[in-house]
Amino acid sequence: MTHAELLARHRTVLPNWVALYYDEPIEIVRGDGRRVTDGEGRTYLDFFAGILTNAIGYDVKEISDALRAQLDSGVVHTSTLYLIRQQIELAEKIAELSEIPNAKVFFANSGTEANETALMLATQYRRSNQVLALRNSYHGRGFGTVAITGNRGWSATSLRPFNVSYVHGAYRYRSPFRDLSDADYIKACVNDLREVIQTTTAGDVACMIAEPVQGVGGFSVPPDGLYGAFKKVLDEYGILFISDEVQTGWGRTGEHFWGIQAHGVTPDAMTFAKGLGNGLAIGGVVCSADLMDAISANSISTFGGNPLSTTAANATLKYLLDNDLQQNAAKLGDKIIGGLRDVAEAHPFVGDVRGKGLMIGVELVLPGDGSPNQAAAGKLLEATRERGLLVGKGGLYGNVLRMAPPMSLTEEEADEALDILRESIAVVDEEMK
Ligand SMILES: Cc1ncc(COP(=O)(O)O)c(C=O)c1O
Repeated sequence: MTHAELLARHRTVLPNWVALYYDEPIEIVRGDGRRVTDGEGRTYLDFFAGILTNAIGYDVKEISDALRAQLDSGVVHTSTLYLIRQQIELAEKIAELSEIPNAKVFFANSGTEANETALMLATQYRRSNQVLALRNSYHGRGFGTVAITGNRGWSATSLRPFNVSYVHGAYRYRSPFRDLSDADYIKACVNDLREVIQTTTAGDVACMIAEPVQGVGGFSVPPDGLYGAFKKVLDEYGILFISDEVQTGWGRTGEHFWGIQAHGVTPDAMTFAKGLGNGLAIGGVVCSADLMDAISANSISTFGGNPLSTTAANATLKYLLDNDLQQNAAKLGDKIIGGLRDVAEAHPFVGDVRGKGLMIGVELVLPGDGSPNQAAAGKLLEATRERGLLVGKGGLYGNVLRMAPPMSLTEEEADEALDILRESIAVVDEEMK
């Protein structure tokens, strides 16, 4: 069965709104380390890692062995009606790592469910349905999470369970405040936040939710300290702050274990998913017991925190911490970002190279007026694939390349990817002249 035949079957039975990458979409059939092989036998270095989910890589012995042992026990699922030792162990570790005092953890199966849960908790706790979100955000595909997503391309409906107000700040490159210094940028965004609270809410807002580095929004990085400055204003009103760490958690940003730590603030709640299971479906919320126990009705996630996904998560966390992959993300992230900034100097259609650790974004523009260059992003996706590198795409206008390889990346692989990117950027620049 060729990719083309598989694609035809896919188009017949799967929704149109589940987008596929590439003019000729591929199936990934094998993985090893940071490399994957497609159904027609081509091998690639994977710099998107299942959308940041294969945090450590493919076929990691320590994780596969733990999963096999769990499978051999005969127990894949029991439900939360029974004690789940692996879930308790994982919750203990995450509670401690969160640095949130007196923390409890709830497990679900995805980032969407994690955020839906956090929103439920915050709105119940505060007895308010008002929420603050960031422009250009993405928080999931559920009814509540679409409502707080500030990106037209991912807003499937205008119906919403909350009154949502959007503030400036996370996406600096096209912000009206972009030319200000970091300190003045933060001041301008804080003023905007105050004005939004005063002019668009009743004051008793439940929470603000923010991604420390916007993922789908094109790996856009606000200045460090922005959310710390926001938190001071939120505290004046008793508004809770939720950090969506679905992409930024587990050390991926290099400098910190949680992305929000760059802002000098401990959030009231954090949500997580993606990388924690190194491919197995898991998500969750960590927050103080007070907030977690604000729900008085019964509520469960049947599959959430099941023995298999929590086994994978415990093994993934142990591997990440034992091998200090955060430090590796910091080192190789700097190398790749630095290398790409050098490349950008010779190619004006590369408008911005940004990121933290192994979350690296390249925003492509039309030289001259700087408007979004979606065509270049599409061409670069193809050009890198042809040369053996898988990367992602995103941003409000679909003009940002996104790279987030497994955090076990080696120096040689970083060099190999840089070579491919350098060549692809040069070829596409030439083609577009
Ligand atoms: C920051 C952020 N939050 C939430 C989600 C939703 O996660 P999921 O797709 O697992 O539901 C995503 C997915 O990309 C995300 O990037």
